[in-house]
Amino acid sequence: MQIKAHLLDLKPYPPGKTVEEIRRDLKISGNIYKFNANENPLGPSPKVLEALQEALLEIHRYPEASYLELKKILAEKWKVNPLQIVLGNGSNEVIEFLFKALLEKEDEIIVSEPSFLMYEKLAEIYDIKVKKIPLKRDFTHNFSEILKRISFKTKVIFLDHPNNPTGSTLKRRDWEEFLREVNFKVLVVIDEAYGEFIEDPEVPLGIEFLKRGYSVLILRTLSKAYGLAGLRLGYGITFEELAQALDKVRQPFNINLLAVKAGLAVLKDEEYLEKSIQIVKEGRRFFKEELEALGFKVFSSQANFLMVDLGERAEKIYQRLMERGIFLRSLKAYGFPNFLRISIGLPEENKFLIQSLKEVLKEV
Ligand SMILES: Cc1ncc(COP(=O)(O)O)c(C=O)c1O
Repeated sequence: MQIKAHLLDLKPYPPGKTVEEIRRDLKISGNIYKFNANENPLGPSPKVLEALQEALLEIHRYPEASYLELKKILAEKWKVNPLQIVLGNGSNEVIEFLFKALLEKEDEIIVSEPSFLMYEKLAEIYDIKVKKIPLKRDFTHNFSEILKRISFKTKVIFLDHPNNPTGSTLKRRDWEEFLREVNFKVLVVIDEAYGEFIEDPEVPLGIEFLKRGYSVLILRTLSKAYGLAGLRLGYGITFEELAQALDKVRQPFNINLLAVKAGLAVLKDEEYLEKSIQIVKEGRRFFKEELEALGFKVFSSQANFLMVDLGERAEKIYQRLMERGIFLRSLKAYGFPNFLRISIGLPEENKFLIQSLKEVLKEV
């Protein structure tokens, strides 16, 4: 047996710790406050819980293999044909389909640095070359540099919008200028994992560009605003030829029965979605005001998290908060040792974090 040489040094994706892991690894028995994984703080939609109760009685059956009902609901939502939708076990899986269906050994992809780590992790797994283009000084994607670095080998450009971990977005005219310049043979993936939380009307959604015929694929997930991270359900919207090719490389039952039923239920639960979005918008404003009042720089974000510059004390603050059961995301691994990423929680959780931070600041 021989493991592929390019996999020998591969480091797996570093996920945010779960509550159970935190309790076990750090021996914390009190309350745990998770601001580290951009999850939905509301808990699941009550409609999902109801649907799952019923669905439990069917889990000895395979799900319906075409997932047509789910695709139809999504197609209606975006006013596209169901054949333009490809479903994944989390939007992560749709990213993987692109590697399976489009990318060959000599090809390369372009990503921003920093951005969502799975693009480059999957490139490592599939042994595809990655060109990393640093974000601009304002932490937005550097479109002009990306355009310069496209070569005949470039097949896919992955752009998370809002960007993870900074929360940054770009305006409609920037996207228009960029997409007009990109060769049609190159696919631009607009990853809108946090798209529901965009508030600025000048920030476009990728669907606009798909409908205008650009070579784009839009990624969406039910892990964030829809509160289904644990069930794993995401999708891509693109032109039919590509969606069909991606659909061919998926496993027959890649979306499990419970995820299908939960997805159908939550996509009809407008009240839950609105509440999720409202909590994030209010939480973003609250954190920005409070953290700026404490003298810290908060970067503008259209996502369900904020990046904040805590200066040289960042690591100490991170550790002290952790000792109190409050978990933020350190951005050391992204090359930003002074920055932390804070997922928006419930209003009372957000207040608790600020109160605890004030106490910790007296200690460090
Ligand atoms: C930018 C971005 N894209 C995609 C994902 C993957 O989401 P999922 O696989 O849960 O749909 C995440 C998760 O955090 C993300 O931040």
